[in-house]
Amino acid sequence: MSKFNILVLNGHNLNLLGKREPNIYGHLTLEHINTILNQEASNLNVTLSCLQSNHEGVLVDYIHQALNHHQGILINAGAYTHTSIAIRDALSAVAIPVVEVHLSNIYKREDFRHHSYIAAIALGQISGFGVESYRLGLQALVNHLQQELIR
Ligand code: DQA
Repeated sequence: MSKFNILVLNGHNLNLLGKREPNIYGHLTLEHINTILNQEASNLNVTLSCLQSNHEGVLVDYIHQALNHHQGILINAGAYTHTSIAIRDALSAVAIPVVEVHLSNIYKREDFRHHSYIAAIALGQISGFGVESYRLGLQALVNHLQQELIR
């Protein structure tokens, strides 16, 4: 069976995890989250490329570069979730299956966090489970890719 290579993309301010509002986002650093995800990836027999940027255009470039390299994208776009048509359009343009994740439950928070530009073009969204949102999102994405293979 072919080995999937998944792009894990984090948007701005997520490099500050661990220090940033730990009452909302928890105490794990992004590095620690990526370590946990890499363990899950090896259980699932897939490989990950984990990237983060605080710049919208850089995230768009990373999404473009995923073409022909990655079979799935797991994304926490941070606040760009609620603002970025450019990131949504990039995800639509490459047409790589995407799962959206959030550490916090965005629907329990301020109204401006209730709308995601990404959700409508994603396979699905997982929000509110801290690092488990990422792990569950990765499982769901890999499961989807495997189902597509045998179809
Ligand atoms: C977040 C939720 C967003 O509303 C916020 O801007 C973030 C993090 C989350 O993971 O809970 O930066 O995406």
